[in-house]
Amino acid sequence: RKASGPASQIECIEFGGWEIDTWYAAPYPEEYSRNRVLYICEFCLKYMNSDYVAWRHKLKCPAKHPPGDEIYRHGSISFFEVDGRKNPVYCQNLCLLAKLFLGSKTLYYDVEPFLFYVLCEYDDLGYHFVGYFSKEKRASSQNNVSCILTLPIHQRKGYGHLLIDFSYLLTKVEEKTGSPEKPLSDMGLVSYRNYWRLILCKYFLTQMPEDKSEKKGLSIRQISDDTGMTPDDVISALEALRFLVRDPVTQVYAFRIDLDYCQKEVTKWEAKKHVKLDPKILTWTPYV
Ligand code: COA
Ligand code: NA
Repeated sequence: RKASGPASQIECIEFGGWEIDTWYAAPYPEEYSRNRVLYICEFCLKYMNSDYVAWRHKLKCPAKHPPGDEIYRHGSISFFEVDGRKNPVYCQNLCLLAKLFLGSKTLYYDVEPFLFYVLCEYDDLGYHFVGYFSKEKRASSQNNVSCILTLPIHQRKGYGHLLIDFSYLLTKVEEKTGSPEKPLSDMGLVSYRNYWRLILCKYFLTQMPEDKSEKKGLSIRQISDDTGMTPDDVISALEALRFLVRDPVTQVYAFRIDLDYCQKEVTKWEAKKHVKLDPKILTWTPYV
C-alpha cells in the first residue's frame, strides 16, 4: 500500500452510465483523489465521492445541458459556448475532467480568460457531453484553441475533426487566422495534421476548376485567408502533402498539386460518414 500523498489514485470515472479509464492524474481536492472511482455528473460535471452521492445528485440535478448559449444545432449535434467568468465552477470541473486525459500541464482554476465550446449529442435524456475546446478571449491571441478533448468513449468517430473545424469556423467569422496552442499532444498533432491535410485537399478541389485555363492565382496568403489556417500551418501542411516544391536551381517555390490524390483523400474521409459542420447554422458573434 502506497503512503498517502498528493498523487491521484483515480483509475476511472463513472460518467453518464459509462466507466471510463483515466490516463493521467488531475488535481482534484485530496478527499476526491483518494478514491479509485470518481463519479462525475455528465450534465453539470460536478464530481462526487460515492455511488450513493452520485445517485442522489442525479435525482435532483436540474441541468440537462451545459450552461451558456447554444450557438449551433444540427440534427442531434449541438455546441454550447460557456464563459469562464459567468460559469467558473462548470469550467473548472471541465478542465479537471480534461486533465484526466491530458499529459501536459493545463489550467484548472483560472478559467475566467477563456471561453469553452462544448460539443453535445442530444437525445431524450438530454445533451450528452462528447468533447470540447477552450479558447482565449484575448483578441490579440494567435491561438484559436487552447485545449481540446474528445472523451475516450467518443474518440475516432470524427468528433475531434468536428471540434477543430468548429474552431476554424469561429476564426473565419472573426476574419482572422489561428492555430492551436503549442505544444500539442501526440494525439492532438495527428488529429491536426489529418485535419489540415483534408482541408487543403478539399480546398484545392473547389478552387481548381477542371478547365485549367481558368486557374486562379494561388498563394499561401490566399489559402490562409480562405481556410483560417495560419500561413505557417498552410506551409507545413503543403510540405507534408508534397504539394510545395522548390526548384533546385532557382530556389523558387512552386505549387505542385495532385488533384487525383486530393479527390482520393476526400472520398476516403467522406466514406466514413462522420458528422459534418454546416457553417450557415452557426449563431454567434465574436467576444468583445
Ligand atoms: N491515433 C492515430 N491517429 C489518430 C488518433 C490516434 N489516437 N486520433 C486521431 N487520429 C487521426 C486519425 O487520422 C483520425 O482519423 P481516423 O480515425 O479515420 O483514422 C483523425 O485524426 C480524426 O480523428 P477524430 O476521430 O476526429 O479525433 P478524436 O475525436 O478521436 O479526437 C483528440 C482527437 C486529439 C481530441 C483526442 O484524441 C483527445 O481528446 N486526446 C486527449 C486530449 C489531447 O491530447 N488533446 C490535444 C492536446 S490539447
Ligand atoms: Na483519438
